Amino acid sequence: MEQETIFERLLQIISRYRQEQGSDPFVDYLDPGDLARRLRLEEDRGHNDWEGLFTWVEAYLAYAVKTGHPAYVNRMWAGANLPSVLGEVITALTNTSACTFETAPVSTLMEKYLLRTMLELVGFENGSGQMTTGSSNANMIAMMAARNSRLPDVKQRGLFGAPHLFAFVNADAHYSMDRAANILGLGTDHLIKIPVDNHGCMRTDLLEARLAEVIDSGGIPFFVAATAGTTVRGSYDSLEPLLALRERFRFWLHVDGAWGGAVVFSDRLRRQFLPALEQADSFTLDFHKMLGTALMCNVLLFNHRSDILRAVCSAGDESYIFREGNDGDIRDLGTQSLQCGRRVDSLKWFLDWKFYGRTGLAERVEHYLDLCTYAEALVHRSPELEMVVPRESFNVCFRFRPPGDIPAEPFNRLLRERMHRSGRALVGTGYVDGQLVLRLLITNITVDKPAIDRFFRAVIDTGRELLAERGDQHASPSTRQA
Ligand SMILES: Cc1ncc(COP(=O)(O)O)c(C=O)c1O
Repeated sequence: MEQETIFERLLQIISRYRQEQGSDPFVDYLDPGDLARRLRLEEDRGHNDWEGLFTWVEAYLAYAVKTGHPAYVNRMWAGANLPSVLGEVITALTNTSACTFETAPVSTLMEKYLLRTMLELVGFENGSGQMTTGSSNANMIAMMAARNSRLPDVKQRGLFGAPHLFAFVNADAHYSMDRAANILGLGTDHLIKIPVDNHGCMRTDLLEARLAEVIDSGGIPFFVAATAGTTVRGSYDSLEPLLALRERFRFWLHVDGAWGGAVVFSDRLRRQFLPALEQADSFTLDFHKMLGTALMCNVLLFNHRSDILRAVCSAGDESYIFREGNDGDIRDLGTQSLQCGRRVDSLKWFLDWKFYGRTGLAERVEHYLDLCTYAEALVHRSPELEMVVPRESFNVCFRFRPPGDIPAEPFNRLLRERMHRSGRALVGTGYVDGQLVLRLLITNITVDKPAIDRFFRAVIDTGRELLAERGDQHASPSTRQA
């Protein structure tokens, strides 16, 4: 097959797939064993044979989850923005590493432009940043920057013989914090999880007590991470009381805005959810979550620290690859990163930014919040549904209320699984105060009020269906026949 024909064929497939994103079902679900038998991955097809290769592409798409389908309300990301998809195609086509200017000239300038734009938008002065592989990595790098700032010779000496460092997070913080504590040699016992109040926010009175305890025992409280939108409940830790504590205890204040950090695009929502963000030490935000850029796309920003990344990340002999810039300008972004090879994530961000603009992104986030308000109102109106906890922001934590003494957790698990397997909808789960919740996340531009109506209709119908089946099981054989 000629190269041109290959591309034509690919474009047809891409275009058909995009058109069918909204058609039912959102997944043709098979259990792993059945799917493996259906796919027959061991089969030799496509060896120097484009026709055979395209059958693999078709097979991949046939069983892929249509994350752009409005019934996919499962995760913090969903079908990607089309401008960023274009960016991804070009990125794959040009296959280069973002680590040096000579291999990625335009990407380097785009990433720098992104950093300038975002630093200004967030209000960080004399700052710096980088695009990382996501907020898990960004949280780790922020913790590392705080560690290295507090113990300036840790890069050379490690933590051997060093005073004990302690980090503090909201008890509902993302698990990447535990992983960071592990990777950075702190140990997860040195990650102190602060209990939350009724709104899912870190209790600053308890944080203050724990900070004082650590100091009394000879430890160093070096890092506090506020979460801007916790993973399950969507709670925002208040920054002002944390800033006051920082005055006293001199820790590094990081803000994990992986999910809820997207409010920075809207002045109104930023005032509501993230006042004083501009005073934090670092901030991470995922463009690939609420803002819809193709996975992965993240930015990590530092305040008042223009050269921290180089100081923290650089180690070893880089002379074979990196070149100095003119007048102190950073020429190669790889000098600021823990990776050598680095994917180009700047182009897809750039295309989204140019296409939607700040106003478009602000409107999107505001619209999602309105839809969440609408969804919560529907739950309140239905006698068969209940909110497990009141909504704090973008996460709607609800469940089906089974009648009588039917336990809610196994029932809702079954309900979710039934909806998934039948291709009706996929909704997330999580625990709040030990109770299972169905976590509805709206982060898909194809979701509108009718789609939310359909989603809850599906939940209620599935719940009723399960109850009817239980009724059948409990009924005597003769009644069942009747
Ligand atoms: C609050 C929070 N922080 C960090 C992360 C990790 O982000 P990523 O998937 O980009 O690594 C998540 C992911 O869901 C999250 O909810």
